Amino acid sequence: MALCFLFLVMCLVSFSSGDDLQRLQQQTKADGSLSFLVVGDWGRKGAYNQSQVAFQMGRIGQRLDVDFVISTGDNFYNSGLTGVDDLAFEESFSSIYTAESLQKPWYSVLGNHDYRGNVEAQLSDVLRKIDQRWLCLRSFVLDTELVEVFSSIQLHLWTTTSQTQKDHTYDWSGVNPRKQYLAKILKDVESALRDSTSKWKIVVGHHTIRSIGVHGDTPELVDQLLPILKTYNVDFYINGHDHCLEHISSRSSPIQLLTSGAGSKAWRGDIKSWNEDHVNFFYDGQGFMSIQLTDNIAKIEFYDVFGNLLYSWNSFKQLYSAT
Ligand SMILES: *[C@@H]1O[C@H](CO)[C@@H](O)[C@H](O)[C@H]1NC(C)=O
Repeated sequence: MALCFLFLVMCLVSFSSGDDLQRLQQQTKADGSLSFLVVGDWGRKGAYNQSQVAFQMGRIGQRLDVDFVISTGDNFYNSGLTGVDDLAFEESFSSIYTAESLQKPWYSVLGNHDYRGNVEAQLSDVLRKIDQRWLCLRSFVLDTELVEVFSSIQLHLWTTTSQTQKDHTYDWSGVNPRKQYLAKILKDVESALRDSTSKWKIVVGHHTIRSIGVHGDTPELVDQLLPILKTYNVDFYINGHDHCLEHISSRSSPIQLLTSGAGSKAWRGDIKSWNEDHVNFFYDGQGFMSIQLTDNIAKIEFYDVFGNLLYSWNSFKQLYSAT
């Protein structure tokens, strides 16, 4: 009964919200819980241990009975897909993540490498016909009865402008003029977060906010996104971009920053010695993350290429909150 009510509220919110973000619905398990895997920076046709990571995701995915998978972007190296008929889609995705437990929706965001190819191809329904798991949108809200996942804020459009535009060409079709596009997306995300009545709030993007990996912090996101996430009590920000596994706790708010960008090439060996926030865990090698959610507990785990549990952390919600 309580769950039904919550679901109704969410539907109403969806219809009345003042943003243009696309809503996707995801069922929880019968007991109201959810579990999912997070992997990023992966598409290399099995190379650099991608296949080994995929195999272990299948094993752990079965044990946790995962409901879906989140990809944090840089889905296809080195330069996204060339078009909807690019065989890399099958060679790096369909024929790699073959385990039974991974035959679930894959909610995927776009990374900077994806923008070096044909972005519209990754967003296309044609890919969904080839492999129905594939769900890649520029930005969306994933509604469940337990959590809302706000995704793919395209924030790398900022960073790419300032840092790497000189060296590569990017497909900006559909997001021009970029400045206005970014301002609008930020406003939409803020408005969606403000309206959210969800127990857990998770935001996913490709780029780091905080990291001690090679890319480090992303100043644009620290300045413009992090304050919004703090204001609206987002529980977790999840990203890839740095090819590592990492858990950083903010010192000034309860938000947890989680990096899962270790789906293939890793071991960069470039680790910064300091971060303004508190680094709980960092692993330079390949692997992935799992999240298990109930009404009052989130369990976060990182696994390596052998399926070994590297790190585990629990977050508790107040059972009797003011709302
Ligand atoms: C694959 O994983 C093993 C174990 O972590 C590691 O020793 C090896 O360097 C990895 N291979 C590559 C190409 O990263």
